[in-house]
Amino acid sequence: MTRFAAVLTVGALSLATFAAAHTGVKNPAVMARMDGMKATQDGVKVPGAMVKGERSFDAEAARAAAAQIAAEAARTPDLFEAQETDPNSEALPTIWENFADFTAKSNNLETVALALSTSLETEDQLRAGLGQIGAACKACHEVYRE
Ligand code: HEC
Repeated sequence: MTRFAAVLTVGALSLATFAAAHTGVKNPAVMARMDGMKATQDGVKVPGAMVKGERSFDAEAARAAAAQIAAEAARTPDLFEAQETDPNSEALPTIWENFADFTAKSNNLETVALALSTSLETEDQLRAGLGQIGAACKACHEVYRE
């Protein structure tokens, strides 16, 4: 069951790549925050493949990926602080009406990923941790992304 849930999460995360409206973005500030999100997404790929059984479990590689996700999450509030727009952006204007909440959601992802990057030893921990990471992405996208 845990495995099934984690696979679903990872599936949903890869769908996010297809939804990306990255092409044709003219505003460099919007491009920079999208690049940050892409890097976050890349951080999920390796551990995601481990959970799906497409790659063998490697605690060290999984911890490094979690550290990358945490580092990107730490940058997110700065990348979004100025209310920059672009016709291809999927960011909702409510971000800047509720920036403290947006920051808190980003901090939450950072906390979860950072904990994983320091404590992860087993595949079960990776599954559980990826589930938490996926939930943290979703919690923000649900409210602040088109
Ligand atoms: C604090 C809020 C927040 C968190 C947490 C968050 N995102 Fe995002 N994400 C956004 C917003 C807002 C956008 C839309 C940015 C835009 O289009 O200007 C976005 C866009 C994206 C994109 C599309 C980028 C593009 O090129 O258009 C991907 C992929 C993505 N996020 C992946 C993730 C993943 C994976 C996680 C979790 C590991 C995550 N995000 C966590 C707010 C967040």
